[in-house]
Amino acid sequence: MSAATTIRSRIGSLEPKTAIVLGSGLGKLAERVSDPVRISYGDLDGFPGSGVSGHAAELVAGVMGACPVLMLSGRAHYYEHGDASAMRAPLETLHALGVEKLFLTNAAGSLHPEMPAGSVMQITDHINFSGSNPLFGEKSDRRFVGLTNAYDADMRAALDDAAERCGHFLHRGVYMWFSGPSFETPAEIRMARTIGADAVGMSTVPEAILARFLGMRVAAASVITNLAAGMSGDELSHQETKDMAPIGGARLADILFETVQTLV
Ligand code: HPA
Repeated sequence: MSAATTIRSRIGSLEPKTAIVLGSGLGKLAERVSDPVRISYGDLDGFPGSGVSGHAAELVAGVMGACPVLMLSGRAHYYEHGDASAMRAPLETLHALGVEKLFLTNAAGSLHPEMPAGSVMQITDHINFSGSNPLFGEKSDRRFVGLTNAYDADMRAALDDAAERCGHFLHRGVYMWFSGPSFETPAEIRMARTIGADAVGMSTVPEAILARFLGMRVAAASVITNLAAGMSGDELSHQETKDMAPIGGARLADILFETVQTLV
């Protein structure tokens, strides 16, 4: 049975037009879904297995406030198997179920001392520095996806308005995708700053490309867990990401909860 059929059979008449991919620190947002239906990725054809500590691997469906939503709690990363299209099946499934607006979240390193750990940044644009693309191998001419307006202006404005209502400062910036899993070097971070990045991370960009390919509207935001390599003198670690992500994650969860209420 296709993943979409499995999900449809479990969620009945729920018609979510909005979906959220929960990155590090955002897992708790799923707790704000009332009467949640939880489906393990293992039960969904084509969905990834659980890959990274700190990430769940389940789809959560239900209503958040007044908005029907689907949440992907946990994602596959390019660095797990070198496959940039690892999230294609889950995103195709959301699209098949009628999702039109997709919010992507992640943990990221900051390139600005004035945007420290605990901050939240709305992604205005991205730089793909991985050398890869989730549409490698795609045959149709639809592969030539325009990314001039990859991050939807109306959804971005909704995030800004929601942040203001929540009293949380929402930075804006360019997210640069590095393949990982090793962290960047200080020299790479100097380069990233020079070419216009504001934050660096290991996810989200392939999902944004796939979602635009599928015709979904996209917005994205980063939870800042650290200053990037070479900026603090400390060695970076995944433990730090996991420890710090819930701080900005709580802020971003408030903002997203508030945002989706305006999209009902
Ligand atoms: N680099 C890449 N990915 C990250 C970082 C970082 O500094 N922090 C959290 N995710």
